[in-house]
Amino acid sequence: MSQKPPPKQFIKTPIKGTKTTILVSSAKGGVGKSTIAVNLAFALQKLGLKIGILDADVYGPSLPKLLNLNEKPKSPDNKSILPLEKLGAQCMSMGLLIDEQTPMMWRGPMVISAIKTMTQKVLWKERDVIIIDMPPGTGDTQLTFVQEVRIDGAIIVSTPQDLALLDVKRGIQMFEKTGVKILGLIDNMSVFKGNDGQEYKIFGEGGVENTANEFNKDFLGQIPLNQDLRTSADNGEPLTFTKPDHEVSKIFYNIAKKIKQSFL
Ligand SMILES: Nc1ncnc2c1ncn2[C@@H]1O[C@H](COP(=O)(O)OP(=O)(O)OP(=O)(O)O)[C@@H](O)[C@H]1O
Ligand SMILES: [Mg+2]
Repeated sequence: MSQKPPPKQFIKTPIKGTKTTILVSSAKGGVGKSTIAVNLAFALQKLGLKIGILDADVYGPSLPKLLNLNEKPKSPDNKSILPLEKLGAQCMSMGLLIDEQTPMMWRGPMVISAIKTMTQKVLWKERDVIIIDMPPGTGDTQLTFVQEVRIDGAIIVSTPQDLALLDVKRGIQMFEKTGVKILGLIDNMSVFKGNDGQEYKIFGEGGVENTANEFNKDFLGQIPLNQDLRTSADNGEPLTFTKPDHEVSKIFYNIAKKIKQSFL
């Protein structure tokens, strides 16, 4: 009688130089993962934590633009890479290693190798937390992280739209199946406040909180659709760093406090 082989056991390697590693994820594209990863990281910094930000989007890196990074990282020994320092954060992105307009025409094994380089060869130093900005989907990058990197938790971002939530549910199941703790869900672009004082719920209402309840996860908060958040991202100046009194920054601090109290 043939016996089923035992499931492959993956060795989860921690990222050296950090106490905690948190993914900001959503299987859906364009819902604000990168914007939230960077602003949340600086909100955690405002709470006194030493932060690192790793942009894991090999095909569409955003971090160089979001933080106005234009230096090439140095390699002291041609093997390891020094992260760039910006506003007190240590940063790494595939976008720093290639030309801005070069398309990454890579197959899976090359992506996996790039993720391993960024998680094992970068000389992160004395970080309390590294926030990882994940690409959309549940493909090679996600599998490499959840199976081969020690992740302390994942934060899931979505808009309240049904179309986004479908993918998000797939993302939640991927983390559940691979034993990654979900720290909670964030509702992005939840409401737009017009100059007329009216609130417009462009992507619907309550969908992310309902999904959190459905899967028995924490609901961490709602970020409105806000022009200052968008312009600060385009200018490479995260709102939570440059405008701590902004109403949207305050929402990020509240979410950061919840994460710090519960997990850091
Ligand atoms: N709350 C918000 N208010 C206004 N603009 C936002 C908000 N969140 C994100 N954006 C804008 O929406 C666009 C998509 O955001 P972002 O790049 O962060 O999404 P993403 O989920 O990381 O996308 P991708 O799946 O391509 O990685 C960007 O132009 C960003 O500036
Ligand atoms: Mg992104």
